[in-house]
Amino acid sequence: METGNPMPAAPGGSDNGGPSLTATTGPAWWRLEMTLAAELEESLLWKLPELGIPRVAVRHRPEAPEERQLLAWLPEADWPEEQRAELVRALEPLGEPFGLALPAVTWVRQPDEDWSLSWKQHWQADPVGERLLILPAWLHLPEEHAERMVIHMDPGSAFGTGSHPTTRLCLEALEAMAATAGAAGLAGLRVADLGCGSGILGLGALRLGAASVVAVDTDSLAVMATGENAALNGLSDAVRVAQGSVEVLAELLEGQPADLLLCNILAPVITALCPAFDTVLAPGGVGLLSGLLVDQAAALEDALAAQGWRAELAARQERWGLMVIRAQAEVA
Ligand SMILES: C[S@@+](CC[C@H](N)C(=O)[O-])C[C@H]1O[C@@H](n2cnc3c(N)ncnc32)[C@H](O)[C@@H]1O
Repeated sequence: METGNPMPAAPGGSDNGGPSLTATTGPAWWRLEMTLAAELEESLLWKLPELGIPRVAVRHRPEAPEERQLLAWLPEADWPEEQRAELVRALEPLGEPFGLALPAVTWVRQPDEDWSLSWKQHWQADPVGERLLILPAWLHLPEEHAERMVIHMDPGSAFGTGSHPTTRLCLEALEAMAATAGAAGLAGLRVADLGCGSGILGLGALRLGAASVVAVDTDSLAVMATGENAALNGLSDAVRVAQGSVEVLAELLEGQPADLLLCNILAPVITALCPAFDTVLAPGGVGLLSGLLVDQAAALEDALAAQGWRAELAARQERWGLMVIRAQAEVA
């Protein structure tokens, strides 16, 4: 039997019709299969969504958890042979830092209905930290997690199922912030979610007591997924989402920067965006930045300091880090 650890999303994932698994007919997919070298796992799980391929999973047999296989689904119509060869060429440099060649890639053509069944069987209720639970839309709340705060998620087509370390780091940091604040949790806070993906971070903040979320993503599928997941959680009234980047976020905030900024994006992108952080994060506010590799932290701290933010690497998981930022004037 195979077990899976689904990453960002799944083809046809907008089907959230209840706990039973139903097959759907739809377009065919190319399924990429690759034996996964442990050193390459993080880079591949990050790089594929960056290349426009959010439908990624890692699977292994229960008796051999170290023998992992990477799977990714690409719409057949969009990925003819030449494009697939180009994709493999784009992935090859990922092995260089480790002195490894990219493992061989196999392509398997897969009708949508086969995929739909297999994918959903891989998903499970996923506890994060002490208090949160990510629950796939079609599953019932398991008894053993009945006390947790539930974030209902449909994979849709956006990054953010909660399985990536950077998403978990940010959710755990939110939970820690709420615990420090006592019974009030994040009560009343206005949250800005920059690069919202599936909307998971903003929805987590709302579960922990925040008052409202404004969210943006450059990817239209992410904007759609965030809207759908807000509705799934009965939180549509508290979430406003639009396509764009930090400028659009500032517009949504209507001149009143947020109390809490959430941003899980790669370090070079954060570096490029941080000159505008003062338009989306209030001087007394806190920012949680989680898309960086630990060895990028020092350079990012310098870039943030140059913009008036004091940054501290507050947590790490594997090679990923979480940075907390506050305005220098507030900290001094
Ligand atoms: C790593 S995912 C994070 C998704 C989700 N917030 C989470 O934590 O799981 C990064 C997201 O940022 C979006 N993104 C990348 N560059 C961006 C930019 N310059 N402005 C806004 N969003 C961006 C991507 O489309 C993607 O959905």
